[in-house]
Amino acid sequence: MRTCDTREPTALIAVASSNQQLARYKENSREIAKPRHHQPIRACENRQPVPLPAPRQTLDAAGLVVAAPGNNAAIVRDVSFKLAAGQGVGIIGPSGSGKSTLARALVGVWPPARGTIRLDGAELGQWEPESLGPSIGYLPQGVDLFDGTIAENISRFARDVDPAAIIEAAEQAGVLQLILSMPEGYDTRIGAAGAILSAGQRQRIGLARALYGKPFLLVLDEPNASLDAEGEAALTNAILAARKAGAIVVVIAHRPNALAAVDQVLFMAEGRAVAFGPRDEVLRKTTVHAVSETA
Ligand SMILES: Nc1ncnc2c1ncn2[C@@H]1O[C@H](COP(=O)(O)OP(=O)(O)O)[C@@H](O)[C@H]1O
Ligand SMILES: [Mg+2]
Repeated sequence: MRTCDTREPTALIAVASSNQQLARYKENSREIAKPRHHQPIRACENRQPVPLPAPRQTLDAAGLVVAAPGNNAAIVRDVSFKLAAGQGVGIIGPSGSGKSTLARALVGVWPPARGTIRLDGAELGQWEPESLGPSIGYLPQGVDLFDGTIAENISRFARDVDPAAIIEAAEQAGVLQLILSMPEGYDTRIGAAGAILSAGQRQRIGLARALYGKPFLLVLDEPNASLDAEGEAALTNAILAARKAGAIVVVIAHRPNALAAVDQVLFMAEGRAVAFGPRDEVLRKTTVHAVSETA
């Protein structure tokens, strides 16, 4: 029985976001990346926490204010939106408007300074990190792969690996042929930071990693930045398939192509949500906004 739980809140995830984190990740292979800036939210307790079931229904962000770790300046300011299973949102907005910061908060890497992020009504920190991790898939901007095999990277260096799930994720990300063409297929070592791969190949392996295990919440930060037309088509299909299977997909898009697979759009400017709603409606409004600004 656990007698003193000093784990950090939320601390996900799907992906370790630095090599230092990976070293720890490997040391304790059941563990997930735990950002150091988190404050423990639970005091010593003599009871077992009640495990929550995996989320399946809603993502609710309310009054989110997010700052970088160790910094008080708010980057995301008072952002609220709700999504239900099967929905996909495209986050658009100028460079520096806080899109990636919002993505980091949604997956639990940077906890909000204010406001809440709830899945099925429960804040991220209410889950056991180990049980929430598989429910969240994250492709960070500037994908970070690690020195290991392709299979290890896709399966997030998990101890209990499901080979069928690795193949399924690779198939969905459209990287099956690429992997099979490598000298040792799934067991090919990709070198530090995925050195043997091109930027587009890294992005597609990163997408497969995000899709691994069919997470409920999929957050993709500029997933098409280095993709060719074939890669973009695979991405669109993967987002549509995930939504159809009941996931919520958040896609940060710097090119309109990535909006083909979403039904909602969140337009950000200077850390604020300027508009949120059905895709075409928001695109119409924000185009008018852009035109009137330059007029
Ligand atoms: N680690 C960090 N520390 C301090 N400021 C940061 C950090 N990361 C991003 N920022 C600042 O936050 C702002 C928004 O960044 P970001 O969320 O990456 O925007 P976007 O993804 O929309 O381009 C930028 O002004 C950036 O300088
Ligand atoms: Mg960004």
